[in-house]
Amino acid sequence: MTAASSDIRDKGLADKGRARIQWAYSEMPVLQILEARFARERPLAGVRLSGCLHITTETANLARVLTAGGAQLLLCASNPLSTQDDVAAALVQHFGVPTYAIRGEDSRRYYQHIHRALDHQPQITLDDGADLVSELHQSRTDLLAQVVGGTEETTTGVIRLRAMAAEGALRFPLIAVNDALTKHLFDNRYGTGQSTLDGIIRATNILLASKVFTVVGYGWCGRGIARRAQGHGARVIITEVDPLRALEAAMDGFAVMPLQEAAACSDFMVTATGDKHVIDKAHFEAMKDGCILANSGHFNVEINLPALEALAVDKRRPRPSVDEYFFQDGRRIRLLAEGRLVNLAAAEGHPAAVMDMSFANQALCVAHLWAHQGEFANQVHGVPREIDEEVARLKLKALDLSIDRLTEEQSTYLASWREGT
Ligand code: ADE
Repeated sequence: MTAASSDIRDKGLADKGRARIQWAYSEMPVLQILEARFARERPLAGVRLSGCLHITTETANLARVLTAGGAQLLLCASNPLSTQDDVAAALVQHFGVPTYAIRGEDSRRYYQHIHRALDHQPQITLDDGADLVSELHQSRTDLLAQVVGGTEETTTGVIRLRAMAAEGALRFPLIAVNDALTKHLFDNRYGTGQSTLDGIIRATNILLASKVFTVVGYGWCGRGIARRAQGHGARVIITEVDPLRALEAAMDGFAVMPLQEAAACSDFMVTATGDKHVIDKAHFEAMKDGCILANSGHFNVEINLPALEALAVDKRRPRPSVDEYFFQDGRRIRLLAEGRLVNLAAAEGHPAAVMDMSFANQALCVAHLWAHQGEFANQVHGVPREIDEEVARLKLKALDLSIDRLTEEQSTYLASWREGT
């Protein structure tokens, strides 16, 4: 593959992209270790990989590890609004990775790019949201026979894949990277937490202290967003459909109430549910003037955008990443990043230090799939415990943190049941 077989905004941005990729690299010590190991051991020599991922500085550093391991990697965007065009240019010009990604691409181009990634005839797929696997199973079934397996990065993608597996539709094994503890406990919580607040602040520059800030969904992402909003001095409300999560939110010190009630008093509302039309027409009708809406879930379906468009009598763009909808009664609702994931569309996504762990899992799982091809059933598999623990150990070492070991006596005690009070 050559630089010609790519579709990017502007190759003139490549040097800027390389400098930013290098900046992120210095925050990714686990990937640095893996890059050196993969260069030595070449676990992916000649393996064709297609990755449908957010094209960011962090993804570029994952690409370095995979290509150091010998992979023939091709990348396309996993979201039309998350691509960093300078990174796409650097991937093509400086790192030799064919890339199909242009920030702001329309849906037709987005799917065209996914098909270019499939034309690469992947033996392993890497997905963030499962669009690549979904297209492969729906319209490129001729390619299925050569696919050894794939990895999935995000909660939404894992939910889609489990639905495919439940229908018996999955034709190769997938590893749910999201399910690794070293992924979701850190990336979803601290990564989404910080980058969502970053996106909201960059887009609006509105003070959060004293504002009523509703987080819709108290999964790992919602927990992270809520905690960070609270840290900014916001008064945080959680809305949930799951009684256990609602209870946890209450005991974590947050107000808990139905979405309809929260809509009437919120200054900010952020969705992190993975579900469709969570904020809907009745909620728009109840909202205060000026309410700011953002989505942090993978797809732009959490806020019912067609309903919002239908209710509005006018729409303006006062700032980049902000659309202001005017209602007949004079109220305004402000939507950030067109309802796409605000942390990547209005900021730069999760910081490199957490993506370091997520992408270390990706790299190790891809190598694991290749080394153990044919051994997995066509199901969604968890990340092997050894990989999860290795990523944690490497990260601790990089942070210069040491931990204790059980003594012989303690191990024996834990393995016995005879000894009591
Ligand atoms: N998902 C969330 N943040 C990301 C980042 N910085 N790079 C790639 N994928 C991401």
